[in-house]
Amino acid sequence: MNTQIDNLLHENRQFAPTEEFASNAVAQPSLYEEAAADRLGFWAKQARELITWETPFTKTLDWSNPPFATWFDDGTLNVAYNCLDRHVEAGNGDRVAIYWEGEPGDTREITYAQLTEEVKKAANVLTDLGIGHGDRVAIYMPMIPEAVISMLAVARIGAIHSVVFGGFSSDSLRSRIDDAEAKLVITADGGWRKGKVSSLKPAVDQALAGKDGDTQKTVEHVLVVKRGENEVDWTEGRDIWWHDVVPSASSDHTAQAFEAENPLYILYTSGTTGKPKGILHTSGGYLTQAAFTHRNVFDLHPESDVFWCTADIGWVTGHTYVVYGPLANGATQVMYEGTPESPHQGRWWEIIEKYGVSIFYAAPTAIRSFMKIGRQVPQEFDLSSIRVLGSVGEPINPEAWMWYRNVIGGGSAPIVDTWWQTETGAIMVSPLPGITATKPGSAQVALPGISITVLDESGNPVSNGNGGLLVIDEPWPAMLRGIWGDPERYKETYWEKFGDKYFAGDGARLDEDGDVWLLGRVDDVMNISGHRLSTAEIESALVANEMVAEAAVVGASDETTGQAVVAFVIIKQSHLDEAEQIADIASSLRSWVGEQIGPIARPREVFVVNELPKTRSGKIMRRLLRDLAEGREVGDTTTLADTMVMKVISDQVRS
Ligand code: WTA
Repeated sequence: MNTQIDNLLHENRQFAPTEEFASNAVAQPSLYEEAAADRLGFWAKQARELITWETPFTKTLDWSNPPFATWFDDGTLNVAYNCLDRHVEAGNGDRVAIYWEGEPGDTREITYAQLTEEVKKAANVLTDLGIGHGDRVAIYMPMIPEAVISMLAVARIGAIHSVVFGGFSSDSLRSRIDDAEAKLVITADGGWRKGKVSSLKPAVDQALAGKDGDTQKTVEHVLVVKRGENEVDWTEGRDIWWHDVVPSASSDHTAQAFEAENPLYILYTSGTTGKPKGILHTSGGYLTQAAFTHRNVFDLHPESDVFWCTADIGWVTGHTYVVYGPLANGATQVMYEGTPESPHQGRWWEIIEKYGVSIFYAAPTAIRSFMKIGRQVPQEFDLSSIRVLGSVGEPINPEAWMWYRNVIGGGSAPIVDTWWQTETGAIMVSPLPGITATKPGSAQVALPGISITVLDESGNPVSNGNGGLLVIDEPWPAMLRGIWGDPERYKETYWEKFGDKYFAGDGARLDEDGDVWLLGRVDDVMNISGHRLSTAEIESALVANEMVAEAAVVGASDETTGQAVVAFVIIKQSHLDEAEQIADIASSLRSWVGEQIGPIARPREVFVVNELPKTRSGKIMRRLLRDLAEGREVGDTTTLADTMVMKVISDQVRS
């Protein structure tokens, strides 16, 4: 890994913006100067310019009780009004908000006026269902416009949404519903994926029924959009079809303003323990940074650009750059239901050509898998509308970066490699396309108004040319406000290692110019295709199988997905015979994990072993297992309780 990084750090290609791009760019170099001169004043100015406040705020940041921040505390606003009504009032009601493309090829075109009307209707329905200020609503949906409408309707009435990725299992859904004590679930019968309907409602039914009579208690209703047309079971009194209530609802709805710190959403993400954390975001600060970054990082010209972020709304990227950023900015965007290769491998490029997408935001895993297929596929389409490319979710290697620029970006589109997290709410580190000379593989610099540093283990800043841990040393508007229901865990996880500084969990190095290179997670969080999963989460799913006594999971580097899950399991003595009868125990455990958590968590490999490498205090030494999983010479084993154990394990794995 380190030699590879050293090579990267000698990357000397740089691509300065063209003069034409720079002179028309939204972001001008003065942004950095303004923010450096008065950081809080800079954010207050952004908040006033980009957001419409019902009550203007007079205070910017309150950091008197760290790590609990408030931003724009005495201001009030309605987030949905900012994403909808105000654009209509400004005369842009006929502008397309969403070009929606279904996987089978059906389409919908929704203007700002139409989207506003739909959200108003849905908001009235939610109120009729007893949802009010502060109530939690779980959303478990495919990538259809109703997902966006639902999120905005919840926001409009001051309730809190918790979107659960549609690829998660019923167990994962249940634990998230329970943790947030949701009153309502909004879902669909199913959605299209890979050429067929993938059902969702049955997982909601299962989650709510629970196992062994453990019925879920807080959910009163399930609102169901008809999309897949698949057969679904129906619980009378609880389940309601969207089409029976929303279209006929009144579209009269005045958005009420809420406090800037009113919670907007909870989004669960993997931490270092088995229990996902409910990351809490609030309204005014979040929306300010979402809008600011979306405008400046992507150089958005809302009257002419067509933006496309390929992320699912189940992830933070979908929250900030499908819903809140683009809609707050009055952008026109593409939303696509399906997978990149359905029904053919050129689907994404076909969509770019069809809608004239000018700003495209995707993950390195996808780019690498297209690289593998070859440039002849994208070259069949006219991609000349592209002017800015974005990357997110994991480090992008220089080869993929160059391919992206040359093949998708016509050799000239600037690439913004954007580093951020569910916790940061919005982009934190990224080039600005009209200003920064971009470098393949580096996320480069903190945005104006954002302050980061790279520290060594003892908390001292590292100098250029050195590596350490990425830390955010000043509060920022879109920062998480806590972990739902667990303030202690919030403090411990992020704020204890370096006192009053936020520790992001990522390793980073500064090159000779002081540009940041992200090196991946330093904790037990893996990054699979840009999605976060914790080793502990998968280990607990494995030991929940009655045959498994112990399990250790590592993230091994993978050419396409960045990292892949590799599991080592010990079978219980009492189940050895049974395990032997299963032809392929490894593949049955792989599917088991897929059922427990969701297909993204399915290990690439499962090795059945007799022992796991442990220290004298019983801690599993994942580092050694990672060496093995990546096919390397196993490193230093002297701290193992039994130094021979790695030899035994490697013989078993390699046999
Ligand atoms: C990783 C996704 C390198 C990082 C927005 C972070 C990145 C985690 C980049 C957050 C990038 C995200 N370069 N690594 N441009 N962007 N990461 O919460 O490890 O799903 O901590 O948020 O993804 O993942 P999350």
